[in-house]
Amino acid sequence: MCGIVGYVGEKQATPILMDGLKSLEYRGYDSAGVAVYDNGLNLVKTKGRLVELEKRLEEFPVTGIVGIGHTRWATHGEPSEINSHPHMNEESSMAVVHNGIIENYMEIRDDLLAKGHVFVSETDTEVAVHLIEHYYNQNQDLLDAVILAIKELKGSYALGVIHEDYPNQLIAARKDSPLVLGLGEGENFIASDIPAILKYTRNVYLLDDEEVAVLTKDSITIYDLYRDVVTKDIFKVTWDVAAAEKDGYEHFMMKEIMEQPKVIKDMLASRIYDDVDEVRLDNVDLSKEKLSQYSKIYIVACGTAYYSGLVGKSLIERLARIPVITEVASEFRYSDPIIDKNTLMIVISQSGETADTLAALRLAQAAGTHVIGVVNAVGSTIAREADDVLYTLAGPEIAVASTKAYSAQVCAMYLIATKIAMAYDKISIEEFRIIRNELFMLPSKIKSILDKKDQLKALAEKYADSKNVFYIGRGLDFAVSMEGALKIKEIAYLHAEPYAAGELKHGPIALIEKSTLLVGLLAQEEFYDKTISNIKEVKARGAKVLAIAMEGKNSVEKVADDVFYIPRTHWMIAPLLANIPQQLFAYYIACALGRDVDKPRNLAKSVTVE
Ligand code: AGP
Repeated sequence: MCGIVGYVGEKQATPILMDGLKSLEYRGYDSAGVAVYDNGLNLVKTKGRLVELEKRLEEFPVTGIVGIGHTRWATHGEPSEINSHPHMNEESSMAVVHNGIIENYMEIRDDLLAKGHVFVSETDTEVAVHLIEHYYNQNQDLLDAVILAIKELKGSYALGVIHEDYPNQLIAARKDSPLVLGLGEGENFIASDIPAILKYTRNVYLLDDEEVAVLTKDSITIYDLYRDVVTKDIFKVTWDVAAAEKDGYEHFMMKEIMEQPKVIKDMLASRIYDDVDEVRLDNVDLSKEKLSQYSKIYIVACGTAYYSGLVGKSLIERLARIPVITEVASEFRYSDPIIDKNTLMIVISQSGETADTLAALRLAQAAGTHVIGVVNAVGSTIAREADDVLYTLAGPEIAVASTKAYSAQVCAMYLIATKIAMAYDKISIEEFRIIRNELFMLPSKIKSILDKKDQLKALAEKYADSKNVFYIGRGLDFAVSMEGALKIKEIAYLHAEPYAAGELKHGPIALIEKSTLLVGLLAQEEFYDKTISNIKEVKARGAKVLAIAMEGKNSVEKVADDVFYIPRTHWMIAPLLANIPQQLFAYYIACALGRDVDKPRNLAKSVTVE
């Protein structure tokens, strides 16, 4: 889970590489480096964030018009200068950057050690360097050497390679790790993600698995592993680079939280219309005829995306009365799942590159299962490989903690569940119209919560010294509480547990003490009284209580220390609204505690390794 950028052209490469790396820092930030060719390869790398590399480059500037750069999230070997990328061969004639995990690196390393190669780092990447070098020594053809080497690699890789014998050339390859190629005028680029090169070009090639590209300043040629040329369409990026910048907010996370009314408006725009009594999901076939082929539905995802899937499960089951199994992708893929061509699988992913989700998708497709991808990143691997794609249209999400993408995913679940329920005639036109009206009102209701953000800031400052936080709810409130607890864990580093409200008495209530904060979710009216009873039980044991309830349900004020009200809405729409205060609460606690909000410790935005 690292960020790669590469440049070949007529300009100085280093500023372009550094610029690209800054927008890729969300992918990992424990060390960084660049290698640039100028009468030999010049390497500068350092432990720490990009600012450290910037300082190092001021001391040791490197010039040249061909180069590669890398920002690392450690997998093999601790974050250190020696383990940071680019890595070089013994003669320092070749430099390589890598994202992914080479699973058979130990055996390749042993083999290469026996052949006399000298390794200096603990990384899996270094075997790629020496393996390419091994083949290069045989026939002095760099493209051949890269192809022969990657044929031996098991696992995932996106690679950028430069060699001093090919001073005007950059080679790139990928398998199961994202890599795009940018086409410029008299210059070309490689990058792990489009925003890294968007300043320079909107025309990109999306490299596919087991493809190798040779870039010069005037050409990009893509090959398969037989060295046959592959022709590809240019993918034109239509969104703006400003969309990937902070727009005056202190953090990307806040910018992304504030974007949610627009995100939901965009999500709904071409899918529901006030004069059409159906949900339109272009490219996703959820017709009665198609659905009749399926005997069960799986929803598979990781982290926040999985929590949106739990909302989806509940909605499909309640609206359409069809059983749905929801599973985290890392478990699903090793669970020997009972799936076949009569199964429908929905995978959810913001990045579209999450390794476990992608593996789950491939496993399902191999069993003949039809896979719908609910994906945010256009052109990502999951979007390309899924049989049907429903884009969540949230735009680039930069903060590691997912906010707007979750809301868009939950909105996608609303659309899918409603569509399935209508296909099965489980909801009437009148019921559909009620749901549609509520969906149309969502953006303004989200805005009304965002307008009260100062209230959540004050609450966050009041509770920032909590040592343990419990999030409780029932039904859909429980699904939402899981996302609330994850958010506060990942950005505020507070220990937080989501619990089904009725489960507290079966053990965890023993943990309640005076320093405990309980966030009680009360957005599902049918469970209001029951959850109030659970809140009373923890209140009686000394915990502080912050309740999130629907407007008009004021009796909660008698049991909670503080209450944040969300606008009244339909039960199925409540999860999306109830989560917005959780996002703001976690954000402000993280700020109060001085955390690195956009780049929390130990995390990376896109988890492209298992
Ligand atoms: C969200 O705040 C997390 N950082 C994380 O759980 C994330 O949702 C998960 O890794 C899945 O990512 P994806 O949506 O890109 O597949």
